[in-house]
Amino acid sequence: MVLSLLVVEKNKMTNCEEISLDSRPPSYEEIKDKNGITQIILRNLRGDTVRISLYGGQVLSWKNEQGDELLFMSSKATFKPPNAVRGGIPICFPQFGSRGLLEQHGFARNRMWVIDDQPPSPRTNKSKGYATVNLLLKPSDEDLKVWPNKFEIRVRVTLSEDGNLVLRSRVKNANGKPLSFNIAFRTYFAISDISEVRVEGLETLDYLDCLQDRQRFTEQGDALTFESEVDRIYLSSSDVVALFDHGSKRTFQIRKQGLPDVAVWNPWEKKAKALTDLGDDEYKKMLCVDGSAIEKPITLKPGEEWNGQLEFTVLSSC
Ligand SMILES: *[C@@H]1O[C@H](CO)[C@@H](O)[C@H](O)[C@H]1NC(C)=O
Repeated sequence: MVLSLLVVEKNKMTNCEEISLDSRPPSYEEIKDKNGITQIILRNLRGDTVRISLYGGQVLSWKNEQGDELLFMSSKATFKPPNAVRGGIPICFPQFGSRGLLEQHGFARNRMWVIDDQPPSPRTNKSKGYATVNLLLKPSDEDLKVWPNKFEIRVRVTLSEDGNLVLRSRVKNANGKPLSFNIAFRTYFAISDISEVRVEGLETLDYLDCLQDRQRFTEQGDALTFESEVDRIYLSSSDVVALFDHGSKRTFQIRKQGLPDVAVWNPWEKKAKALTDLGDDEYKKMLCVDGSAIEKPITLKPGEEWNGQLEFTVLSSC
């Protein structure tokens, strides 16, 4: 139902919104941030941009052609080890949450990733107007001491010609034994105000409430709205979820494959105050809606590979 609604909106949008076509070809640029960490800036033909840091393999920014930021980034975020960056799209791997020996949400989000050039592939496509980068993380010797599992995680970040942000991920078991993991693409959407948004596509699903020891509940039939702290894992959702923002007249559509669950998080006032890397009022400007595989870990045989994909589209209502 959500899907058909959005298709209509998208068609409507192309008729009523003027898209300023800029003749610069799509581009790929590498820069260093103030800590000397490499960032990649992708730009498509239309002028949308995505900025990615090799620290965490993390998308930090996604802007439309008008320069509006679509992802939330905390004003107090730190961009260097050992902290994870509060905003954008941190990758929670190989676990979600803080169970077991591993650090909260695993270690992928605070390790240095590399650009994966094997096999070499073009970074931009002039005829199709998109730009892309392949990122790779393998465990260090230190990581293997804490979590003795050899793996390769690859994420291909693409900014499509029509401005969609696409994350294609692959995890390969490089062990001689089975590999089990959780994964979540924690996505901090930038919103006008938490009281102005609703999420559709999670109605009537079962969820685990992380504020109540992961007890299982069932969601009501209405779209989700927010008036207090939320930290939930919705189980086995359909492949399309939408975040409507009435304040900015913007809709984010999340399409996912291989990622059955959807984690939804907003820390609200009290927890925001307790988080040193989030401004006291900034919880109003963010909502995390994450494509994830949490309830049932993904298990791979030796040499086996898992694939997942997330595609974010932003639609304006006019
Ligand atoms: C551009 O993208 C199209 C569609 O994905 C592909 O068929 C073509 O080979 C690409 N061109 C280059 C130069 O990579």
